[in-house]
Amino acid sequence: MKDRSNFSNKLGFVLAAAGSAVGLGNIWRFPYLAAQYGGGTFLLIYLILAVTFGFTLMTAEIALGRKTGLSAIGAFRALDKRFNILGILAVVVPIIIFPYYSVIGGWVLKYFTVFITGGAKASAGDTYFTDFISSATEPIGWFLLFMAFTAIVVLCGVEKGIENVSKFMMPVLVILTIIISVYGLTLEGASEGLIYYLKPHMADVSAKTILAAMGQLFYSMSLAMGIMITYGSYMKKTDNLESSVRQIELFDTAIAFLAGLMIIPAVFAFSGGDRSALNAGPGLMFITLPKVFASMRFGSVIGTIFFLLVFFAALTSAISLMETIVSVFMDKFGWKRRFTGIFVAVLALIMGVPSSLGFGPLGFISWNGMTVLDIMDFVSNSVLMPIVAFFTCIFVGFVIKPKVIADEVKETDGKFKAEGMFNVMIKWIAPLFLFIILVSSVASGLGLFKL
Ligand code: PHE
Repeated sequence: MKDRSNFSNKLGFVLAAAGSAVGLGNIWRFPYLAAQYGGGTFLLIYLILAVTFGFTLMTAEIALGRKTGLSAIGAFRALDKRFNILGILAVVVPIIIFPYYSVIGGWVLKYFTVFITGGAKASAGDTYFTDFISSATEPIGWFLLFMAFTAIVVLCGVEKGIENVSKFMMPVLVILTIIISVYGLTLEGASEGLIYYLKPHMADVSAKTILAAMGQLFYSMSLAMGIMITYGSYMKKTDNLESSVRQIELFDTAIAFLAGLMIIPAVFAFSGGDRSALNAGPGLMFITLPKVFASMRFGSVIGTIFFLLVFFAALTSAISLMETIVSVFMDKFGWKRRFTGIFVAVLALIMGVPSSLGFGPLGFISWNGMTVLDIMDFVSNSVLMPIVAFFTCIFVGFVIKPKVIADEVKETDGKFKAEGMFNVMIKWIAPLFLFIILVSSVASGLGLFKL
């Protein structure tokens, strides 16, 4: 592929990949999981998993992409024809996620607009969020707008669009996150929340903690859906792969950690130490936090900054989802970027409408208590992602062999410091854990037992 687009340098690559990794998962999911599953212990477990398990899979994916210079479908196929199907499965994941992720991105845009136009108080009303998502047309409008932003960046291409946007948004996101966390820590009653977040509470730790941390790690690092393969295919051979992976992981984990600092103490201060306020799941971001902001001094400003940073996080993730799909179509059919981008955007708009309507007019569609959006989330994250990750390990560990990846990592300076660990992880430990995750998340999604 001589004219394949490229990130201009290592920083561009790392920030774009971190842009993909840092998303809604870091900001609302990580904090409440950490609070729920043992505080400091969860943080520690997460960290250990990130530098072993996360490192292994991310290195494998980026190396597969860079080695073949192809997006997910082509990359597997180029190395072994029998694994074509794995590439296809990997791409089905972003095709499912992209539409509903953009529906949620639309909600974020709506909240940002409400806060910046002085609607903080209104948004704290008890039924504000449910009224909004159950309406037929309004959420679709915001969804369209979010999708338009995403599509514009992807249409501008890898270097001019994705890289430039990431280079601007990611540093800004870090600064805004730090501002809010510092402010949150000054609130009265926040210190208890801080202690609760950081102190290990062993009674809440069990096998479930590891599974929860592992599931979160996957989603958070954008693994097992062809994204890192695609971004890897745009990486230069002269940029160091191993240290890039370390930096992406560090970025992703740091933002998740800071998001906890931003949210948990503030929620504690607001609820007078009532932890159950943290267990609101998705409602945490759209129901509890607006109430928290409405109750604090400078709440409108803080709320506006918060939703702006969440918007940046969601946008850079959505871009990576869309780019992965676009790049597959471009590789496969030889289409031009402009045509492919528009095609994918229209397709995703059509696919996203049912997810959006699932809280209102299509509310009657439900499966094991899940709405359309939840079903999409379940199929992609709990079923397909572990399957793809499992077979990626088998593929690398036993079919092409880990040496192929190691050689790619060594392209720059002949070194792969963590090679020993990589080999053991990819062949034995990762597949074993992935298998357990798959079985347990499918079982709990189907209501066979509750995790
Ligand atoms: N990694 C993103 C997050 O933490 C989520 C994501 C998943 C982004 C899949 C892109 C693709 O929110």
